[in-house]
Amino acid sequence: MIKLRNIKGTHDILPEESCKWRHLEDIIHKICAQYGYQEIRTPIFEQSKLFSKSVGEDSDIVTKEMYSWEDRSNTFLTLRPELTASVVRAFNQHNLRNLSPTQRLYYIGPLFRREKPQKGRQRQFHQFGIETFGSNLAEQDAEVIVLAWQILSHLGLDKKINLQLNSIGTDVCRSAYREALKKFLKPHLHELSEVSKRRFETNPLRILDTKNEKEISILKNAPLINDYYSEEDKEHFNEVKTYLDASNIPFNVNFRLVRGLDYYTKTVFEITSSELGSQDALLGGGRYDSLVEQLGGKPTPAIGFAAGIERILLLLKEKDLKISKPTPDIYFICHEKAGIPASLSIAKKLRVKGFKVVSDTLRRSMKAQMRDANKIGARFVLILGASELQKNDITLKNLRNSEQIKIKQNDIVDFFETLNN
Ligand code: HAM
Repeated sequence: MIKLRNIKGTHDILPEESCKWRHLEDIIHKICAQYGYQEIRTPIFEQSKLFSKSVGEDSDIVTKEMYSWEDRSNTFLTLRPELTASVVRAFNQHNLRNLSPTQRLYYIGPLFRREKPQKGRQRQFHQFGIETFGSNLAEQDAEVIVLAWQILSHLGLDKKINLQLNSIGTDVCRSAYREALKKFLKPHLHELSEVSKRRFETNPLRILDTKNEKEISILKNAPLINDYYSEEDKEHFNEVKTYLDASNIPFNVNFRLVRGLDYYTKTVFEITSSELGSQDALLGGGRYDSLVEQLGGKPTPAIGFAAGIERILLLLKEKDLKISKPTPDIYFICHEKAGIPASLSIAKKLRVKGFKVVSDTLRRSMKAQMRDANKIGARFVLILGASELQKNDITLKNLRNSEQIKIKQNDIVDFFETLNN
């Protein structure tokens, strides 16, 4: 028999890990609710053109990372590589704009990108993120960034992270800057990598993202976008910075920060951590004031971010998580076949009242079951054997102090309920 394995770049989240995920998810739900955000869940796959139209025909995601296929009705489908496009599609499709002037949405879920797997980079990974629609004002940008920061500080990560902030301006600013950057790069064209040569034609701002040492040194003297801001861009960016200062959020302005997705306008930001190694981006986001319209909706300003859950968990040490693994209240031992119906019925009644009860289903020896009860951290053991069956009672052992008593089977639920009060 061939032993089947998971696909490269995907991971099983085993119980040891899944309790950390749940803990993190609980914090996300709690903090998003504090800011008035509501959860949205969209399908795992969408029409391929949703992503090429939004993320960008020339982006890494669309050119080489999407898992796409043609289905039997000749529609091109793609496993979602990011969630902003899907949320905008849903926003438009369900006319969420009509429900209230601002829509605050958040999500948690898996995404798929065919990248080379390495530490902090998977082919199936998970993000939590928020998207908010309706306001083009700087206080909205601040709210989104403060929320991101609050979740990470709640996890104790604020000392390990660095927020980088930029504004890539509106279209007019960006096209003037694009020309200036091309003019600067033209004499160096022969020194650029093949990827950057291609980007020179398609999206020269992306060259600023390079990791190539030679290109980084060429770019040291490149023009900066802030010289091309309109008055409106400048004012918006200054307000965002003022509001972040007022919220005590530390940030570095990085005029070279551009993001790998095409839909951004004005504010862009990234939170990185040097403790993560080469995949150091924990979270990224920005404003995308034209995307709703680009995808067929009424013009609506919007801003959001997404964070990689695996990367957050990589950064968190056990002590930061303060997780206590769930342990059962009661371990039920029945070592008499005739007692099984009664044991099942009592265990069910206890569970209905909210107690966590684990019943043995292997009919092992008393010694093996007691060992198991101790191992999984049960507080009490209930024992139903031949003598208990005869007298309609049950033995209760407290594993914390080893005290043992007998109780009538009919009284057991009341007993635990009184104990709980
Ligand atoms: P992104 O920068 O492509 O932005 O991804 C956001 C985060 O997802 C990254 O900072 C990283 O933590 C995580 N991530 C990305 N790719 C991988 C991977 N292969 N393995 C593990 N983690 C990964 C977006 O996706 C935008 N939709 C963010 C956004 C929302 N902008 C506005 N709203």
